[in-house]
Amino acid sequence: MEILEFEEENEYIEKVKKINKEKKRKYYILTMGCMLNENDSEKICGMIEQMGYEKTENQLEADLIVFNTCCVRENAEDKLFGKLGELKKYKKETGCIIAIGGCMMQEKHIQEKLYKSYPYFDIIFGTHTINKFPEDLYNAISKNEKVKDILDIDGNIYEGIPIKREDKIRASVTIMYGCNNFCTYCIVPYVRGRERSRNPEDIIKEIESLAKEGYKEITLLGQNVNSYDGGNGYKFSNLLNDVDKIQGIERIRFISPHPKDFKDDVIEAIKNSKKICKILHLPLQSGSTNVLKKMNRKYTKESYLELAEKIKKEIPEVVFSTDIIVGFPGETEEDFEDTLDVVRKIKFEQIFMFIYSRRVGTPADKMENQIPENIKHERFDKLKELADRQTVENNVKYIGAKQKIIVEGKSKTNEKMLTGRTETNKVVVFEGEDKLINKTIEVEIFKDHVWYLEGRVV
Ligand code: SAH
Ligand code: SF4
Ligand code: F3S
Repeated sequence: MEILEFEEENEYIEKVKKINKEKKRKYYILTMGCMLNENDSEKICGMIEQMGYEKTENQLEADLIVFNTCCVRENAEDKLFGKLGELKKYKKETGCIIAIGGCMMQEKHIQEKLYKSYPYFDIIFGTHTINKFPEDLYNAISKNEKVKDILDIDGNIYEGIPIKREDKIRASVTIMYGCNNFCTYCIVPYVRGRERSRNPEDIIKEIESLAKEGYKEITLLGQNVNSYDGGNGYKFSNLLNDVDKIQGIERIRFISPHPKDFKDDVIEAIKNSKKICKILHLPLQSGSTNVLKKMNRKYTKESYLELAEKIKKEIPEVVFSTDIIVGFPGETEEDFEDTLDVVRKIKFEQIFMFIYSRRVGTPADKMENQIPENIKHERFDKLKELADRQTVENNVKYIGAKQKIIVEGKSKTNEKMLTGRTETNKVVVFEGEDKLINKTIEVEIFKDHVWYLEGRVV
């Protein structure tokens, strides 16, 4: 693996720009995956806009349509096929370019399915070749043939890819690529390759320039951020300490840390920082030691609870969010009860809940005792009920409390109200003048609407 500069693609950016000259070309992009995928899309948008395209939200007026796909669960995959079906007629009528990238494209059986059943795409590109998008697009336009640009080996890291962020206050920064953990249910290591970390200097430089542009909140991204390796002993805690020093940045978040690698130096860094948000995402997946073992998570119910307790002891104001999978192969009622037990004990601020989805090529797909759909759904509903109840209970502590929020803009549902988030990621709406947008202010919370809070400026 090498860390390279993006420059070599500039030639193709110029070539496509020349072809598009004077023609007001439009592009549409749909991102189907996680924040890492979204960050990739921001880079794809950055390159596309340099080639002279303007963004549209309407796919039926686009000259270039890009899908950035996800394959972590079956429903993410279904989304792509639905979208492609919708576009068949439009493609035939207009000859627009359809480019499909992202995690799904790394899967052989998906590539075959596209060639067989959706042969009207123009470009497929994988997770390791995003940097070559201008070249792929140029070839698709100028040679009028299908382009397949997918690497099975881990790609290099490219610095300096132009990036177009939608948000003006909050920015994501990928610090590492790939995953080495091979949780048995998960497809990510197969489609994203092994762990590769960016150089600390490149990350710091990126965040410093984001701060200069006015960004206030940074989310550091990686599949397992606490195994970040900046070289020469430089670890994730060092990075947190260095990002903390960057002037202008007010909030730092990171996802996802793996509980097995959550070490004291990281806890110390969080404790010593005023900027690192005191809500930590600590993916549980299951509360049963049995299931965790079969998942290859390398921690137990007890060690997870101990870790949460240790963090809480060091940093009492910390709250947690988590990811949970229900219906992993072989999960018994007792196992599921263990999950509910951990949820009751930790009282997570937010839970991302998933029904186990079989993924081709993963060990869990081949396990016996796959759980029937109806039981998976029953367990999901039961967990959701508990989580919803806890959200209401957790919200009580906000009533009457003063909260610092970064004002993001007008509320989407009520033009007269402004909206922003607390450090713990709760949405707050309140009355206020437009000049407050982008500012950090204090509000007093007076009403709980379950999924958001209502406050007044103090
Ligand atoms: N690297 C991150 C998560 C990446 S995927 C981590 O380890 O926390 C995001 C979430 O999707 C996972 O945390 C898991 O809860 C869920 N997930 C992954 N594979 C899944 C599958 N096959 N079925 C259902 N949920 C899955
Ligand atoms: Fe998937 Fe596990 Fe890696 Fe997360 S840590 S991406 S769940 S294999
Ligand atoms: Fe993310 Fe989905 Fe890929 S969760 S890493 S976009 S498989």
